[in-house]
Amino acid sequence: MRAALYRRPGPAAEVLEIVDLDTPEPGPGEVRVRIVTSGINPTDWKTRDGHAGRTPDGFQVPHQDGSGVVDAIGVGVDHLAVGQRVWLYLSAFGNRYGTAAEYAVVPAERAVTLPERASFDLGACLGVPALTAAHCLGGDPGPLAGKVVLVAGGAGAVGHFAIELAKHAGAQVVTTVSSEAKGDLAVAAGADAVVLYSDPDAAEQVLETVGRVDRIIEVALATNLELDLAVAAPGATIATYAAAGDLTLPASDFMAANLSLSFTLLYGLTSEQTAAAVRWTSEAIAVGSLTPLPVHPYPLEQIATAQDRVAEAPVGKVLLRIAEQ
Ligand SMILES: NC(=O)c1ccc[n+]([C@@H]2O[C@H](COP(=O)([O-])OP(=O)(O)OC[C@H]3O[C@@H](n4cnc5c(N)ncnc54)[C@H](OP(=O)(O)O)[C@@H]3O)[C@@H](O)[C@H]2O)c1
Repeated sequence: MRAALYRRPGPAAEVLEIVDLDTPEPGPGEVRVRIVTSGINPTDWKTRDGHAGRTPDGFQVPHQDGSGVVDAIGVGVDHLAVGQRVWLYLSAFGNRYGTAAEYAVVPAERAVTLPERASFDLGACLGVPALTAAHCLGGDPGPLAGKVVLVAGGAGAVGHFAIELAKHAGAQVVTTVSSEAKGDLAVAAGADAVVLYSDPDAAEQVLETVGRVDRIIEVALATNLELDLAVAAPGATIATYAAAGDLTLPASDFMAANLSLSFTLLYGLTSEQTAAAVRWTSEAIAVGSLTPLPVHPYPLEQIATAQDRVAEAPVGKVLLRIAEQ
């Protein structure tokens, strides 16, 4: 199979190679998927760059997320069949066969049915962003009905699915963005209100439009903590998933309003937590509640350019289109 891989961490153009590899066979409990689309997330370039401190065991085919068609199944896999459309998550986690190749072999639970109504592009955008968003929203749509959610950075990949999953759960959603164009994307995702976070009265605007907020999905905790504290309802949770740097917490403000601060790293979730996030994401896809952001497609051969583009944090999702849809 044609595959992209790297053998040591380093800059994209230096370490990423396009090679012919033996097509891997699925072992017990695994499936092989013919990849149609490979989704790229910040974690993919950070891992390849060496930020994660991991050196590949021989080689690493990168990219956690993707979509495609089940091509072979290993012994003991009974919930998937050859020919089934699937989306993949955590493909390259503890596994050398990520999705930047014509085929990936993954543990079978990491291949999830992709309904006909969902495009392969959407399927390749889900893994890291949607599962992170679902977990930060509490992992269960039930308790969110009727609540107010603030999504910081609603045009980002995680922020986008946080809006769509919160709306799917029946919450009211306000989001902060840096530009009107990003606000338009957030409204298209279903946000009830959009506030420019650079506005000096951003907190007042949130309070005027939706009132106090029960849950905050936070991408920039250090920058936004003052805003978050100003709009949080008593008992609210601030759920953050992006590195915040060193931060001094005003503990008495948290205590006075019984606030919780939670930190999420997708790689560290329990299998039950991951399964809950997958379940919610699947329910939302099944009823058409999830949509892709605008996509920036590249061929497999341009993976280095594509990963560097992700590092520039473009608006929308960068993908590799590997096979015909
Ligand atoms: N912990 C985990 O498991 C996990 C999972 C997924 C992602 N992440 C991390 O989370 C970060 C975001 O990932 P992503 O894929 O969503 O990236 P992305 O698509 O680039 O989105 C990031 C968004 O955050 C916005 N933003 C930046 N500063 C902001 C601020 N002060 N207030 C509000 N919004 C702000 C950006 O827009 P503007 O710059 O225009 O404001 C952008 O829309 C990355 O660092 C990624 O590595 C962690």
